[in-house]
Amino acid sequence: MERTYIKDLESKKGGEAVIKAWVDVRRDQGKLIFLDFRDMTGYVQGVVLPKSPAMETASRVRPEWVVEVHGKVNPRPEKNVQKDKQNGSIELEILSITVLNEAQTPPIDVRGDGREIGEESRLTHRYLDLRRPRMQKNIRNRNKVMLLTRKILERAGFCEIETPNLTIATAEGSRDFIIPSRLEKGKFYALPQAPQQFKQLLMAAGFERYFQFARCFRDEDSRGDRQPEFTQMDLEMSFATEEDVMNLNEKALIEIVQTLYPHKKIQEIPFPRIPYKVAMEKYNSDKPDIRTDKNDPDLLAFAWIVDFPMFEKTDEGAWTFTHNPFSGTKPESMGDLMAKTNIDKIVAAQYDITLNGNEIGGGSIRNHRPEALRKVLEIMGFSEEKIEREYGHMLRAFESGTPPHGGIAWGLDRLMTILENEQSIREVIAFAKTGEGRDLMMKAPSDVSAEQLLELGISVKKPLK
Ligand code: AMO
Repeated sequence: MERTYIKDLESKKGGEAVIKAWVDVRRDQGKLIFLDFRDMTGYVQGVVLPKSPAMETASRVRPEWVVEVHGKVNPRPEKNVQKDKQNGSIELEILSITVLNEAQTPPIDVRGDGREIGEESRLTHRYLDLRRPRMQKNIRNRNKVMLLTRKILERAGFCEIETPNLTIATAEGSRDFIIPSRLEKGKFYALPQAPQQFKQLLMAAGFERYFQFARCFRDEDSRGDRQPEFTQMDLEMSFATEEDVMNLNEKALIEIVQTLYPHKKIQEIPFPRIPYKVAMEKYNSDKPDIRTDKNDPDLLAFAWIVDFPMFEKTDEGAWTFTHNPFSGTKPESMGDLMAKTNIDKIVAAQYDITLNGNEIGGGSIRNHRPEALRKVLEIMGFSEEKIEREYGHMLRAFESGTPPHGGIAWGLDRLMTILENEQSIREVIAFAKTGEGRDLMMKAPSDVSAEQLLELGISVKKPLK
């Protein structure tokens, strides 16, 4: 008999079915044994009646064993019907059980919401932790958000394009993870902090509308809202204004919430736009939490933060970019940029998007004229040689017919954390790392063999164990 998914069992009421599932709960009541089963589609209660040939196996099976069960899909007597529960009107009368795999008693409980379990244990046994309904929901909803985003962007003419992960250091303001090259000893790739340069080069290449769910890597200290590797929904559009990018993204976010989280309320549409200066004066934050009721778990208060300064002073007194060296300036600041005057007053064509006090994305209209990018780099004190070495490819691209363009990147993990009412980004990432950047399950980072180091031409100061 073909497998029936648990969610489809009600349609077999009165007949027989075979399910393949995990034993979720086992209750031995002497003469009767109740077994609750779980597959990726849901839960069903089964019962082994006295004298059933399945009794011997049923008395052996334990929670988390994987089984194939053949049973009769019996309607429950009226008084036992549980209306609000999946399969609440049926019960599977178990005729036979085949054990597909046994399971040790799990080191962590996988049925509750897991909040009482230490995170170290949860991350060490993540394959078990992910079995809990809360984590299944978070990860499956993440997939739904990604699918719908793809659909929305496809409708709007975007093309999903992958960009390299083995690349050079990209200036997003964090520390890079570096990968040694075996073929060119002493040289290193860097993992991208974001696909910023590649997406701009795709605009130079004429794709006009690009997006990507891009893995980004930043070697910074992890926090509740940060991971060393995380996912951006990254997009870039040619011939676009700030309005175009903001409107498209605002509409996409509204559609995602209204379609996938219909019980949630968006506080204000269109999303309010708050100039950076006002945000700092009024809320003392560039990611203000503007919710009118901070205790309402279903309230989503999006806001755009706009009009950021382009440059800020470093501790050493030099100028650096506030967001991204590729951000363009507002048209009214272009004169100052080109003349390198009133640098502290130059306003970037930059917009961040915040949600309930979290920065969930950011982007800008870029400088697409080579002389404007050059001025930004000069203001930051870069030598002609450094500009050519590190940004030469961007300047050449801009000199070869690059249209005006701009884009944005959402922090997908942060967005999901809020949509799922979670406290930590780690609850919406299947295989998350600890606050110290460790993968406790795979035990990364790890030592490598002396042979591997030799092959890479690397010697490590700390002696290997
Ligand atoms: P930015 O650096 O602002 O912009 O990153 C965009 C968004 O990514 C999320 N984010 C993170 N999420 C989890 N862990 C991290 N360590 C982490 N760092 C950032 C945030 C942030 O708003 N290339 C530009 C985008 C552009 O201009 O188009 C960029 O990367 O939610």
